[in-house]
Amino acid sequence: MTLDTSGADIGVYGLGTMGSALALNLADNGFNVAVTNREADWIDDFLKEAGDLGERVTGHVALADFVNSIKTPRTILFMIPSGKPMDMMIETIKPLLGEGDTIIDGGNADFNETRRRSAALDGTGLHFVGMGVSGGEAGARNGPSIMVGGTKHSWAQLKPMAEAISAKFEGEPCVDHLGPDGAGHFVKTVHNGIEYADMQMISEIYGVLRDQGGQEPATIGKVFERWSQGPLSSYLIEITGAALKSVDSKTGKPMVDVILDKAGQKGTGRWTLVEALKLGQSANTVEASVGARGWSSEKDMRVAAEGLLEKGALDTALPSEDDLENAMMAARILSHAQGFRILSAASDEFDWSLDLARISEIWRAGCIIRSSLLDEFAAAFRAELPFEHLILAPAIRVRLAETISGLRRVVAASVLSGQPVPALSAALAWHDTMALGRGTANMIQSQRDFFGAHGFIRVDEEGKHHGDWNAV
Ligand code: 6PG
Repeated sequence: MTLDTSGADIGVYGLGTMGSALALNLADNGFNVAVTNREADWIDDFLKEAGDLGERVTGHVALADFVNSIKTPRTILFMIPSGKPMDMMIETIKPLLGEGDTIIDGGNADFNETRRRSAALDGTGLHFVGMGVSGGEAGARNGPSIMVGGTKHSWAQLKPMAEAISAKFEGEPCVDHLGPDGAGHFVKTVHNGIEYADMQMISEIYGVLRDQGGQEPATIGKVFERWSQGPLSSYLIEITGAALKSVDSKTGKPMVDVILDKAGQKGTGRWTLVEALKLGQSANTVEASVGARGWSSEKDMRVAAEGLLEKGALDTALPSEDDLENAMMAARILSHAQGFRILSAASDEFDWSLDLARISEIWRAGCIIRSSLLDEFAAAFRAELPFEHLILAPAIRVRLAETISGLRRVVAASVLSGQPVPALSAALAWHDTMALGRGTANMIQSQRDFFGAHGFIRVDEEGKHHGDWNAV
């Protein structure tokens, strides 16, 4: 391995929104950055945008020049669309790289692909890192939360830079090496699943206040603004308040009222679900949230159905602001608990030894789901966790006990008044299922054995049994 101490500390390939922001963040933190982009004219635009920071940035049109301008062993960050483009770039750049060089995929990639790419580079002397970056453009520029997978060798190279550019929570960098191969991308995927659930639950509460309460956006905005100062303090509650108070300059109407109620999605929420199911888990809050985005896209059908379907709704009082706040808190705890459950199942399955306390810690600042609750989760994970379930941690049980009746009243009022709250009710259903020592799966087992002789376990004897299905 040749060591070259001159040249750039890191190369950034891909100068889209996130790539540019990360490159500027690196330069701002004193690192020399080489940049390149598939469309060469973006390089000049970027260098202009860099202004004074341009002193620490070199742009290269030819891939070989870009590679040669980076210190060895090289650290090269790719910020390009996930999937095929990443595979193509690995093949293209591989012959130009040497022993010990690291290729980083900083996009939202499917962790299965990250595992495959890592395995394919095993034994070549090259290293592959799947790195989740959260915080959007502003986060990438000023301090994102960063979830790193891959080898210890790559982490040693990347660590000083990643720590410098990451968000800080009370001075502590919100980045860590979470495990080998796909661990970083998996954690980012689950982060996004939790993000989907939090966004959906907030939207449902907005819906209750708008439809059941007949309140204007600015009034609802004030509620979220108040909540952002309390135990629900978080980035998503804060931006919800600000979004609700924003006004469209074209029409003078509230911004949210001129936006069509069809939600987009790029796929990370769906991946969370798929992986959860493969691991024998059911993250029903995430499922409800991904599903709700799907239903939202059936706009024409919903508009027609509104006049066709009889709701049979009953008059109910609007839940109190306290109940709504508690409902959000309880449901937020439950959806995070489901996310962490998926992480611990994946950790066992892939032998990652994920540190759930550390993950909570690096989510406390910079990322989209940052909230004051994550600090409480970190403390709960650091203490003893019965059955590895966050909802059984003593401090979290207290929080749930204080808020669960609020969730129950909000879900009940919504159900009675015909207001859809799929994620809030999913959270409550999961809570109540987990809180019921004797469930109803004995009936599922009876039916399976009745029609298919699938067998069951008896409560009073070992082994597999069949039932005496002798009644007609
Ligand atoms: C983040 C975000 C970011 C992005 C996702 C979600 O952590 O910074 O999660 O990665 O917003 O791609 O996008 P969709 O809602 O389109 O799936």
